[in-house]
Amino acid sequence: MNGMTPWPYPLWLAHRGAGKLAPENTLAAFRLGAGFGFRAFECDVKLSRDGEAFLLHDDTLERTTSGQGSPAEQDWAGLSQLDAGAWHSPPFAAEPLPRFAQVAAFCQANGCALNIEIKPCPGEEARTGDVVAREAARLWAGALPPLLSSFKPEALAAARDAEPALPRALLLDKLWDGWFECAQDLRVVAVITNWRLMDATLIQRLHASGWRALVYTVNDEAVAERLIADGIDGIITDAVDLLGPGGK
Ligand code: G3P
Ligand code: MG
Repeated sequence: MNGMTPWPYPLWLAHRGAGKLAPENTLAAFRLGAGFGFRAFECDVKLSRDGEAFLLHDDTLERTTSGQGSPAEQDWAGLSQLDAGAWHSPPFAAEPLPRFAQVAAFCQANGCALNIEIKPCPGEEARTGDVVAREAARLWAGALPPLLSSFKPEALAAARDAEPALPRALLLDKLWDGWFECAQDLRVVAVITNWRLMDATLIQRLHASGWRALVYTVNDEAVAERLIADGIDGIITDAVDLLGPGGK
């Protein structure tokens, strides 16, 4: 464990705000997750055409909003009017897409840490990494900095170049050729993998490199217990009512 940076983030992170019990990536989801005792969250951030950073997972609006098409081709004025809650269930109807700044305010007001997944629309990797890092540095000035993560090395490289002091993590859904050297080049503090890729050997290899080891998306108690025994540093979960600070 020697050589690793101090780790100020809680073990448990609620995925997309509160997993599946509220509309993902909305403030309603953050409130619900906080109500279950979570003090750290993961969310997905991308940019509107006019450069507003906001929360959304998909590259298109249809699944989780009342809009259509690509958010990268629409301005925030229109996106801010969409319903991002009715798709989930009636109590959440009219829940808006949150701006990045609103999530920063919520997290800081409630003493919560944040893992910001930079989730660029195709072709927007560098611009999104750059804008999200600059906005994060401004919005979290003087507070516990958010952990910036991405599956897209180009986005993390832009974040590194814009705000080198903000912590970064490489997301991996498989151990592709060159991932280790890529993480070195990005000067990450952590690697976050699909939980199926993570075991004691990989955790030890990451720790020996000075990096923390995190996983997504663990919804099974036995899997969580195995990873905790192996020395995992962070677990992203949808099961906010079963696992985490308010569960097991
Ligand atoms: O940040 C980890 C996890 O959120 C990655 O998967 O598709 O839910 O964004 P996804
Ligand atoms: Mg995500």
